[in-house]
Amino acid sequence: MTTKINEAHRFRPHQLDMPPRLLLGPGPSNAHPRVLQAIAMRQVGHLDPCFLEVMSEIQELLRYLFQTDNELTIPISGTGSAAMEASLANIIEPGDVVLVGIIGYFGQRIADMAGRYRADVRLVETEWGQVLDLETLRAAMEEHRPTVLALVHGETSSGARQPIEGIGDLCREYDCLLLVDTVASLGGVPFFTDDWKVDIVYSGSQKCLSCPPGVSPLTFGPRAVEKLNNRKTTVANWYLDLTLLTKYWGISRVYHHTAPINLNYALREALTLVAEEGLAERWARHQEMAELLWQGLDQIGLACHVEPDLRLPSLTTVLVPEGVDAKEVAGRLLNEYNIEIAGGFGPLAGKVWRVGLMGFNSRRENVVLLLEALKEVLG
Ligand SMILES: Cc1ncc(COP(=O)(O)O)c(C=O)c1O
Repeated sequence: MTTKINEAHRFRPHQLDMPPRLLLGPGPSNAHPRVLQAIAMRQVGHLDPCFLEVMSEIQELLRYLFQTDNELTIPISGTGSAAMEASLANIIEPGDVVLVGIIGYFGQRIADMAGRYRADVRLVETEWGQVLDLETLRAAMEEHRPTVLALVHGETSSGARQPIEGIGDLCREYDCLLLVDTVASLGGVPFFTDDWKVDIVYSGSQKCLSCPPGVSPLTFGPRAVEKLNNRKTTVANWYLDLTLLTKYWGISRVYHHTAPINLNYALREALTLVAEEGLAERWARHQEMAELLWQGLDQIGLACHVEPDLRLPSLTTVLVPEGVDAKEVAGRLLNEYNIEIAGGFGPLAGKVWRVGLMGFNSRRENVVLLLEALKEVLG
């Protein structure tokens, strides 16, 4: 061998040992111990009959989570943004008018992605912390006559919860599909895909499901599937093409890409935990813990950015008091207490902290710990 091996980048790092952080930011949340155990389970092949059974179980448990009977209900390999991209890539044909509700940053991301799939993107906007009411949406539907209306249920950048009830009927009146992002809400905040007539819903694993990031729930209802099946153009994203993915997740079990086996074990366990607890109990727990946090914040003189009726239980935006350096406080919580919270960004940069009580982390002891730590840091 004449070419010499370049040893410049060769080194032996020490054994990985991460600090025991309590993840109370906008996500990820700490994975449940049972989920972490499941991820370490020995692998089988992605077409092994045992894995095929796991896949079917995941699909059925996802239907419970989404509250849907939709056949096309699968986890996308990738984070929440991959599920967002899968939704848009499959439903948009070039020139389709897509109306995006912007109540914070993630609506903007949807609009950006939709534009890349050559949609004619229109926006209906409000301030970060507010939500869009039915009248505003009706006026926007009347003006733009979209093929798809895209909304964010739990806006992680602002801490607002967009009401969805009634919008499904509005969309049907205008022969439009309703697409909803539930990355920060599903599994922690009430959501009824079928009853609310939502055609496309996606989420993520690392927030209210307390599973590591990397597999993201997605469901397409019959109206969305009909549009998908009648496309005039092929889906412009091969990896996320549902016409191909459904052959692997459907009866024929045809290889598309190698499923992230162990992440799917983790998701199965996370979904099992949801089924064991029950959705009603889980939603009530998230609401109760959020209210405990809001009361505690009030007691130490801190206010919330979003008015009570519009607050997202899984993510609270806390107003930073005058003269306090938001970054310094978050840094001290991390370094001195091992607690992660996040700052605001965009119009809320420096103005709020973002506190998540998601999934397994939505527990009384975490609320008390955070409030005590905040009290100490703020003096
Ligand atoms: C509302 C919302 N949508 C989409 C995403 C994107 O998900 P991911 O970061 O997992 O790609 C996030 C992540 O924070 C989110 O909060």
